[in-house]
Amino acid sequence: ELTADLTGRHVVVSAGGTREPLDPVRYLGNLSSGKQGYALAVTAAARGARVTLLSANATLPDPAGVDVVHVSTALELREAALKAVADADAVVMAAAVADFRPAEYATGKIKKKDGVEPAPVALVRNPDILAELSAHRARSGQLVVGFAAETDDVLANGRAKLARKGCDLLVVNEVGGGKAFGRDTNSAVLLSADGAEAEIADGPKESLADAVWDAVVARFDKRV
Ligand code: PMT
Repeated sequence: ELTADLTGRHVVVSAGGTREPLDPVRYLGNLSSGKQGYALAVTAAARGARVTLLSANATLPDPAGVDVVHVSTALELREAALKAVADADAVVMAAAVADFRPAEYATGKIKKKDGVEPAPVALVRNPDILAELSAHRARSGQLVVGFAAETDDVLANGRAKLARKGCDLLVVNEVGGGKAFGRDTNSAVLLSADGAEAEIADGPKESLADAVWDAVVARFDKRV
């Protein structure tokens, strides 16, 4: 049964993985396919929301009835996010964002030279978009939801990340060993800034997405 419990809401979802270019043909990237973020966008639209999907390098087709903004780098994602959240009721950052980018971009393809060791790649920090959106809510009462991709000490790292990022909800999923990235299924623990913790059982990424929207709707209902 379809419940249109997001009717009248504008939600912003990020999906995919950023790419940080080294030269015209190379980049630092990650394994995100965009499936989890697209599942969030599709389920929100099915529940009646107006959806803006910020898509970083996903190769999935644009979902019907969703406004899609295509970006590539973390800096582009930040620009698009700051613009999109201006009138949003909720924002969910499911994209895998590079923490670092190459300090320099070579305008020509980097060449190997015989007998010369490759130069190390210097990196600089990218802005933390989730922390910024959490600290400067574009609207009062705006809900900010993050994801955490963890390979070990999943819960402890998740709890620390929730506090550090300052978001309302954090969806902690285990990655590595073939988990989460690229798959059609996912499981997670949903951590709340108010201390609540709930497990989301392994299942299709759409089911996990619906569980996230259930938690978001419950918080909207508490506020209004
Ligand atoms: O795309 P799929 O193949 O379906 O895989 C889904 C997924 C594993 C990518 C997804 O479920 C997920 O975990 N996304 C978050 C990945 C990530 O970047 O996690 P993190 O722990 O590094 O970052 C924590 C949070 O901060 C995330 O909400 C991230 O969007 C945000 N962040 C991180 C760095 C940064 N510079 N800016 C950010 O906003």
